[in-house]
Amino acid sequence: MALWAGRFSKELDEGVNAFNSSIAFDARMYEQDIKGSIAHATMLGATGIIDEKESRIIVAELGKILEDIDNGELEFDSSAEDIHMFIEAELTSRLGNTGKRLHTARSRNDQVALDLRMYLRTELDGILDQVKALTLTLCDIAGENLHTVMPGYTHLQRAQPITFAHHLMAYAEMLIRDYDRLMAAQTRMNVMPLGSGALASTTYPIDRNMTMQLLGFDDITANSLDGVSDRDFCIDIASAGSILMMHLSRFCEEIIMWCSWEFKFIELDDAYATGSSIMPQKKNPDIAELVRGKTGRVIGSLVTLLTMMKGLPLAYNKDMQEDKEAVFDVIDTIKLCISTFIPMLETMTVNKQNLRNAAAKGFINATDCADYLVKKGMPFRDAYKITGELVALCIKKGCTLEELPMSDYKDSSESFDDGIFDAINLENCVAQRNIVGGPAPDTVKAHIERVREQLK
Ligand code: ARG
Repeated sequence: MALWAGRFSKELDEGVNAFNSSIAFDARMYEQDIKGSIAHATMLGATGIIDEKESRIIVAELGKILEDIDNGELEFDSSAEDIHMFIEAELTSRLGNTGKRLHTARSRNDQVALDLRMYLRTELDGILDQVKALTLTLCDIAGENLHTVMPGYTHLQRAQPITFAHHLMAYAEMLIRDYDRLMAAQTRMNVMPLGSGALASTTYPIDRNMTMQLLGFDDITANSLDGVSDRDFCIDIASAGSILMMHLSRFCEEIIMWCSWEFKFIELDDAYATGSSIMPQKKNPDIAELVRGKTGRVIGSLVTLLTMMKGLPLAYNKDMQEDKEAVFDVIDTIKLCISTFIPMLETMTVNKQNLRNAAAKGFINATDCADYLVKKGMPFRDAYKITGELVALCIKKGCTLEELPMSDYKDSSESFDDGIFDAINLENCVAQRNIVGGPAPDTVKAHIERVREQLK
């Protein structure tokens, strides 16, 4: 019999009950639900809204229910409407009339808004730690590759020389922004909705500040309609999570390319790659592909949440029960992806020589050749044109700019002297880009140190 059965003359249809029920996915919030109820019952006792002794009995029994669930003695009833109803029904079955007093001055609408904020707040702690750990992993690998010269790309065409460290630290910067966004979502979310009631607060003299403090919130919601119908915090998490996954997905795309025979910049550890059922030679970067693929789920959840909310009149509507599967999938997917992604990076081998070989081809020092002429006083556009012609000559001769004889340089401009070979030496090209933000080894080393400092 449902707790709300009084108004109804029939039991709920079984199929409808299954359709309506959310316990299959909201049971994971049992701890938050119980802790929220403990705080609520404590406050009801302290304010004299219910008898203090009864409040203590409720609090103690809720503690036992939590213990019983934790050690597997109490199982969830899959036919319960949701976790909130399940816990309250269990309490009432244990305490009789005293249990029935718990829901005084509260609605499931402010209860679920509370539980969800508390649940996500804790989950975000874990994700923030993971993002931090991933960023530090990048710092570690970057630290070992300060001098690993590779081609930087635009349009996936070799463009200018950088280092593998510089490339990785670009992702570290993205992750730091992701960290900030997730933390901002967590801070914004840490406002307590309990006391909003079903939609119009309550006539009981409840002490919202007390529950706020007991539950570790920073503030209380200022409008009861908004308190129960706001799901911005889910959307914030899905949005920050989508951006994070988009970054991981770009990274994965590169890892997948780098593993190919065409690049061979890295090799994944055998424990983090998979084979083919038919082609004996294959070693596939499945993890990176899955992270890239799962990014779609997270972005999809963001769209689910936005679409779910966009047409809802104030305040609570049952549509909002759909928030949980979406935001839980965001959380689960991110956790799963990062936890596999970190060891995959930690165990991969960086083929420094292949990166260097790729840098040697593609004339990625052509800009430096032009800059050399500019430093001799030539206008940039003229230097650009001359260098373009030299590149064309190299292509014709099948050589690199480094291999082109001095006589060819002299033929195109009298400004060239032996200094050109220093100027277009790839290691020098990288080392000279030593302004803040550049790939020079010392600059990137300082960047890594700053990131480590920031993450402390
Ligand atoms: N299971 C519901 C949810 O997740 C709890 C709130 C239900 N409130 C109500 N009035 N039906 O949204």
